[in-house]
Amino acid sequence: MKPEAVIFDLDGVVTDTAHLHFLAWRQVAGEIGIEIDERINEQLKGISRMDSLARILRSGGAELRFDSQAKIKLAERKNALYVASLQHLDPAAILPGIAALLEELHHQHIRVGLASVSLNAPRILQALRLKGQFDFCADASQIEHSKPDPEIFLAACAGLGVEPARCIGIEDAQAGIEAINASGMLSVGVGSGLEHADLLLPTTAELNWPLLQTFWLTKHSAHAV
Ligand code: G6P
Ligand code: MG
Repeated sequence: MKPEAVIFDLDGVVTDTAHLHFLAWRQVAGEIGIEIDERINEQLKGISRMDSLARILRSGGAELRFDSQAKIKLAERKNALYVASLQHLDPAAILPGIAALLEELHHQHIRVGLASVSLNAPRILQALRLKGQFDFCADASQIEHSKPDPEIFLAACAGLGVEPARCIGIEDAQAGIEAINASGMLSVGVGSGLEHADLLLPTTAELNWPLLQTFWLTKHSAHAV
């Protein structure tokens, strides 16, 4: 008994772009007099660009200082900085354990999906030379709600043609774990300080197929009792 698909978040799971998002936001926030730290960054993981900006402005008490045109300009500035920081991204930036896991999932005939709300996801997969490893990537431009809404994971399941209950989702963000749980998939959290994950691992280096298989079997035999 195996899952039919494993669906990955991108930033912070496949590669460490989560930190690059933070550096770009910190610069833009600094330019408008708002200081942000790693604590607020945790709340931006899995959250769309415009929603992230709204949270940053709120944290600095500046929601009302900018009209929608000015907000779009700030988001564009952040994206330009972020995209510039992606320039040197190459396969060396794939996080430990991920490349081997992707290969093994294909070997096991388990479908592989991507559920990232990043509009830069295609560019990042290309730079990591991982495009061919994903059977379906949910299109962030078609998604209305950021995580913790399950929309992006449900879109990935639909694109792969699998039932959420037959899938595992992997996330590094609290909003992402909640999105996976709400979709009806089993959730694997990677990192510290995460709650409600069905399985929690300290880093991606611990992720491998035998572990996911045991996890799947344990959960399903528990359900059968
Ligand atoms: C991911 C990241 C978020 C980021 C979002 C949008 O979910 O975890 O931090 O804000 O993607 O990314 P984008 O590349 O479209 O600005
Ligand atoms: Mg993430």
